[in-house]
Amino acid sequence: MVKVRHQRAFYEKPAIVKHSVGTNNRLGRLASAFPHTVIDGVPVDELVHRYGSPLWVVSEITLRSKYQSMYRAFSLRYPRVAVAYSYKTNYLSGVCSILHQEGAWAEVVSGFEYEIALALGVPGDKIIFNGPLKRPEELARAISQGAMVNLDSYDELAVVEQLAEKMGRAVPVGVRVNMTVGPLTWDRFGFNLENGQALQACQRVLASPTLKLVGLHAHVGTFILDPGLYRQMAEKLGGLARYLADLGVTLEYLDVGGGFASHNTLHDQWMPAEYATPSFEQYADAICPTLINMLPQPLPLLLMEPGRALVDESMCLLTSVVSTKLLSSGQKGVVLDAGINLLPTSVWYRHEVRLAGETGTPTDGGVMEEVNLYGPLCMNIDVIQFRTALPPVRRGAVLVIKNVGAYNFTQSMQFIQPRPAVVLVNGGEVECIRAPETTAYLRELERIPQRLLTKPA
Ligand SMILES: Cc1ncc(COP(=O)(O)O)c(C=O)c1O
Repeated sequence: MVKVRHQRAFYEKPAIVKHSVGTNNRLGRLASAFPHTVIDGVPVDELVHRYGSPLWVVSEITLRSKYQSMYRAFSLRYPRVAVAYSYKTNYLSGVCSILHQEGAWAEVVSGFEYEIALALGVPGDKIIFNGPLKRPEELARAISQGAMVNLDSYDELAVVEQLAEKMGRAVPVGVRVNMTVGPLTWDRFGFNLENGQALQACQRVLASPTLKLVGLHAHVGTFILDPGLYRQMAEKLGGLARYLADLGVTLEYLDVGGGFASHNTLHDQWMPAEYATPSFEQYADAICPTLINMLPQPLPLLLMEPGRALVDESMCLLTSVVSTKLLSSGQKGVVLDAGINLLPTSVWYRHEVRLAGETGTPTDGGVMEEVNLYGPLCMNIDVIQFRTALPPVRRGAVLVIKNVGAYNFTQSMQFIQPRPAVVLVNGGEVECIRAPETTAYLRELERIPQRLLTKPA
């Protein structure tokens, strides 16, 4: 028996909209034809009923298993590894705590993130402090707590040197190295390898009476689908490490950054994620043997700083259809209660969208239609996706937008709508890990000067 969610007395003038029968396209089975009714043992309907719509849902099982498979892939191939989770990807305390329970270190790029890591109980010596803006007081605290500080510029080097002088002791630092690998040149962070700056920065640290060079760091891009680019990076970073070793420098760590792709699909990507996204084993095969073959013993600690590859798939967004309409093109537009305020990564990625209920799915005849998914922001740019093939939907239908754990919560904004709750699901249990925002909460920091409170005559 098919359950249909109707609003009362619903009427829509009939229109001719192209439907297609069948659930395949040229690349095979259309995932969006099949409903996603349950998340980790909890029915989606029940989640929306209890917590409202829209709603962010984190799967604890997925998060833990992602960490475990990444750690396993690298630790089987290299003797000493640590996975430092990139906080900027999603610094919800519940999310970070799960990863820390699994053994993750923290990689932070601001004093603000550093404080979150400390508050969650991460010891200073398990925090990697990167990024172009590290304020002197933030650096001083990080250094005194034994954090790994990777220098981003000569200006920062000078600040750390001054702090070291004040502290009256040698301060260990890493040097962030940027380079070109394949088509990628992210040369605005750290020191460039190809133009000699990286080596000069290392020499400058080595010449300093108060600094000690203990590590090299690189982060060459994001959503890198080609493990071969990591091989190139390992060769270049390993080459610099080898050169330093020949000068008698023993590095404590080599940090290869993040950038590992998640199961998402870029808008201009032809192959869906199931085929295009490499496994952790493929990445580890590109990095570990390359370093082992190049570096002298004892090998430095190998650090990774994954973000999206750990959290993207662990989170989905539940959203409801507000209205449907016929567009001038003859296509159907579907307005949702969540837009780019909650899913800024829709600009880059074609997130997987599924219907939460059974209506209109292959079990109900297999009819599909192409729709444009819009958000509620009353802004033309508020588009979640163009031309999504879905079973026909109506007001009230719930959609599950999958693989949205990376860079959405942290970049989401309160543009005309407060942000919804976040719940954690695990084996049939549900816990709220962030309450929905309220108008009062959002206005809490505002102050109205007294003179504005008196009404004009
Ligand atoms: C220094 C550094 N490390 C790690 C990451 C995580 O990247 P990703 O989410 O692509 O793994 C970032 C993100 O930009 C970064 O800047």
